[in-house]
Amino acid sequence: MDGAVTAAGGDFDAWMHDALRDVEQALSRWVPADAPAGLGAAMRYAVLDGGKRLRPLLVLAASEAVGGRPAAALRAAAAVELIHAYSLVHDDMPCMDNDVLRRGKPTVHVQFGQAQAMLAGDAMQALAFEVLTPDDDADLPPVLQARLCGLLARAAGHAGMAGGQAIDLANTGRALDPDALREMHRRKTGALLQGSVLMGAACGTTTPAAWAALADYGAAVGLAFQVVDDILDVTQPSATLGKTAGKDEQAHKPTYVSVLGLDAARAQAAALREQALAALERSGLAAGRLRALAHRVVDRVH
Ligand code: IPE
Ligand code: IPE
Ligand code: MG
Ligand code: MG
Ligand code: MG
Repeated sequence: MDGAVTAAGGDFDAWMHDALRDVEQALSRWVPADAPAGLGAAMRYAVLDGGKRLRPLLVLAASEAVGGRPAAALRAAAAVELIHAYSLVHDDMPCMDNDVLRRGKPTVHVQFGQAQAMLAGDAMQALAFEVLTPDDDADLPPVLQARLCGLLARAAGHAGMAGGQAIDLANTGRALDPDALREMHRRKTGALLQGSVLMGAACGTTTPAAWAALADYGAAVGLAFQVVDDILDVTQPSATLGKTAGKDEQAHKPTYVSVLGLDAARAQAAALREQALAALERSGLAAGRLRALAHRVVDRVH
């Protein structure tokens, strides 16, 4: 990351350190250890103490850029991470990608059994919406609660993550054309990242033009994230990724690497970074942290 970017984002690393701590504490507070019959242990195993927390960081950075309510943004950040972590639990199950390693640990179904993994995912999804609808939180008025629930539901459901996952499974072992591949990635991963940005933006005040620009930023970063995930699957070892490397080729998944090749995939990621940065310029917001996050998404090695 160059000096200008760091300067534009202020002390990004210090901000990120504090943000990650706040998110971890919030998740630990809200994910119940005492859910029945070991369900709480499976839920906490799935979501605490691991993961890059990129989606929460996008929520918090977008909220800051629009002067959002910090307590509302923290709930939105935790909620989106709960949805993401649930999607990973189910993505790893034998009926989907059949993975045994996640975030450097045995996957939830390996550790707790398939039925408990399924239920932990179900309960985490519901918990995300519980977190967004507190009874007594003055920082989260009912209108904002409803707005955040709507944004998250649309990003997670048939039009977003779950729909994209269905496309992914239906096309395993097949060749996809680049437009169809883009549409799959937009839904399965891009929608939740874009939703993160918009949930953060909803915690404050934006003009319609700034909202549209942030939506464009979220779409570009979201798609770039999955393009890079496809690249890292072939370029990094399992120890770096914390998940099994080389899985996409082994499982015959259509990816940016298998469809376009590694060089073109890298070029796509770079182009999407430029699109994201241009959208931020259009927003007219002082959004140095979102700039820095766009660079991290593309430059990351895990
Ligand atoms: C992995 O997401 C699954 C995708 C949507 C590509 P992350 O790479 O964000 O996983 P964690 O949260 O850091 O474990
Ligand atoms: C997962 O995509 C997208 C989700 C909605 C979880 P992948 O199947 O490529 O994610 P990894 O590589 O297992 O993390
Ligand atoms: Mg998958
Ligand atoms: Mg997978
Ligand atoms: Mg992957």
